[in-house]
Parts: sequence; structure tokens; C-alpha cells
Amino acid sequence: MTRNDTNTPPRIGTSRRAGLALAAGALAVGFAGLAAAPALAQGFPSKPITLVVAFAAGGPSDVIARLLAEHMSRTLGQQVVVENVAGAGGTTGSARVASAAPDGHTILIHHLALKAAPALYNNLRYDTATAFEPLGMINTGPMVITGKMALAPNTAAEFFAFAKAQGDKLTMAHAGVGSNSHLCILLMGQAIGSKPTQVAYRGTGPAMNDLVAGQVDALCDQSTSAIPQIQGNKIKAYAVTSPQRLDIIKDVPTTREAGTPIDMTIWHGLYAPKGTPAEALGKLSSALQAAMKDDGINARFASFGTTAFPEAQRTPAAHKVAFEAEIAKWAKALKEAGVNPAAAN
Ligand code: MLT
Repeated sequence: MTRNDTNTPPRIGTSRRAGLALAAGALAVGFAGLAAAPALAQGFPSKPITLVVAFAAGGPSDVIARLLAEHMSRTLGQQVVVENVAGAGGTTGSARVASAAPDGHTILIHHLALKAAPALYNNLRYDTATAFEPLGMINTGPMVITGKMALAPNTAAEFFAFAKAQGDKLTMAHAGVGSNSHLCILLMGQAIGSKPTQVAYRGTGPAMNDLVAGQVDALCDQSTSAIPQIQGNKIKAYAVTSPQRLDIIKDVPTTREAGTPIDMTIWHGLYAPKGTPAEALGKLSSALQAAMKDDGINARFASFGTTAFPEAQRTPAAHKVAFEAEIAKWAKALKEAGVNPAAAN
């Protein structure tokens, strides 16, 4: 099921004076955070659980969610049903979970767009810092800058030179303002001193379909979605945004190697609405941890060029620390870069 509200997207502007620095933050602390929640959810779960994906089906968030949902359903003894609530750069889905009954039966998978949104949207219907209970961090991985097969450049260096020369004639798809794919375009634009024309989708699933069909020129997407298309020779891979190359696509250079450093590493986390009882939080978190230990899930992650966080870094308490740090980091980074809700893209 896919739904979309019509949140007015903010208008974004960039200043090239300041650079954005993106990196995954992961701090290892204990499990103490769960103790504070009220103990009300006896017999949880009493019905199927809805796992909200804030982007369209077929994209990287959806792929990770479906892997987890299948395993967590077995652990919890109730179906975990993925629901794609796409729109407004992921904020429509976040709002849906923020306003859901806090009983553990509606949860959210999200990535750094959740933390960047307060700096980019002035019409959010929830307070990001207080609306969610972090349940645990999931996976971390880089973005891959890709192009349609017919695009002229064949190497990363050629692509960056081409993108600069083309200016706004180059079209780049993204999953909405504040999504990873959108922030990657901003970073790339800053790095090369040019502004590609942005084409917004409800997720990189449909964006990738249009890239494969040649409807847009380029897309910077998570390795999770990009790698199957690269391996199928459906798109060109130019560069990965991690400090090191990915083993699974070893011939693709890093942006640094290509002389245009763009550092961007993303991570997913799982969230419940604030006020969810301790029993439900504990069971959901334990089910997530069980899924993360599964060899099959880790093998799938590896095949997408993404990695599970180590056990100590994916606890709810560690997630809470990293979540709060990222909200602050994004507010600062976007402000310094001159990216704000009132400016144009
Ligand atoms: C998606 O699942 O479509 C992506 O996570 C969107 C993005 O942030 O680029």
C-alpha cells in the first residue's frame, strides 16, 4: 500500500561558501533508555504491526524494511506489515508514525532524512527530537553516483567535468527534499560548483526506474538500490561516496580518488512513537536485534554494499545518542551551508 499526503515542500537554497559534511554517527552506550517508559503493553503484540517506510516501494528503505519485517514477524509471532507512506521527503511517513497510537503496533524505519528534516521543513507536524523512541540502529552504507547508460561520460572524472559543463542541463533524480539522494545532489553541486536540475520522486525506487529507462540523466542513490542495477548493466556507476571502495563493486572508484571528494554515509534506524510502553519497546528492540544477527540478512546486506552496525552500537540507548547528535549536526551543517526552508532550490 502506498499513500501520500500533500505536505508543501519547502524551498531550498544553497550557499557554496560552506560545505556539508555527512557521516554516520554511532556511539556505543548501554540499554538503560527502555526503563523509563510506562509498562502498559501487556501481551504485546496483540495484532499485526505496521512498519512504515517513508518512501516508495522498491527503494533502499523499502528493501531493508522488508528483510527485517519478515524476520521480526517470526520472532514476534505477529505479522509485521510494510506500509509505504511516501511524500514530502519522508516527512509524511514520519508524521504518520508520530501521530499513531503509542502502543508499539505502528513503527517507522528511517534514515538521516528524519534528522535533517527539522532544518529543511518549517511545516512539520511533529517535533523530531521528542516524537520518537529509538529502537535500534540497523545498517550503514554509502551512496553511489550513477548515470543512465546513454550518458556520455564513462569515468567518474569525466562525469564530474561533464556535470559542471552541463550546469542545469543535467537532470538528477531524487526522493524529495531532505532525502539522501537530494542531499547528495547538494553536496555534489557544491563540490563541482554547478547546479543540476532536480527531478523529485516519492522515493528512489521510481527514480531508479526512470534512470534505467533513460528519462533522467543521473541519480545518487544508496548502494542498496544501485548495486543490482549496476551488476545488471542497466546504469553506469561513476563513484562511491565512502572513504574506501566497496568490495562488491571494486572497479568503482571513490569520489576522493576521482578528485571530487563527496563524503556521505547513511544509516537506517527503527523508531516507535513516543510514549510506547516499555514492554512493547523491549520486544520490538529484541526482535530487531534477532534479525540483525541472522546470517541470511547479513549476507543480503553485504550483497548490497551495506553493513549491520556492531551489536553495541545498535542498542536503543546508543541509537538515542546518535539520533540526538545527528539532529544537532544537521541543523548546524545546513544552516552553515545556507540551506533553509525559505530559500529556493
Ligand atoms: C528511498 O528508500 O527511496 C530512499 O531511502 C530515499 C532517499 O533518501 O534517497
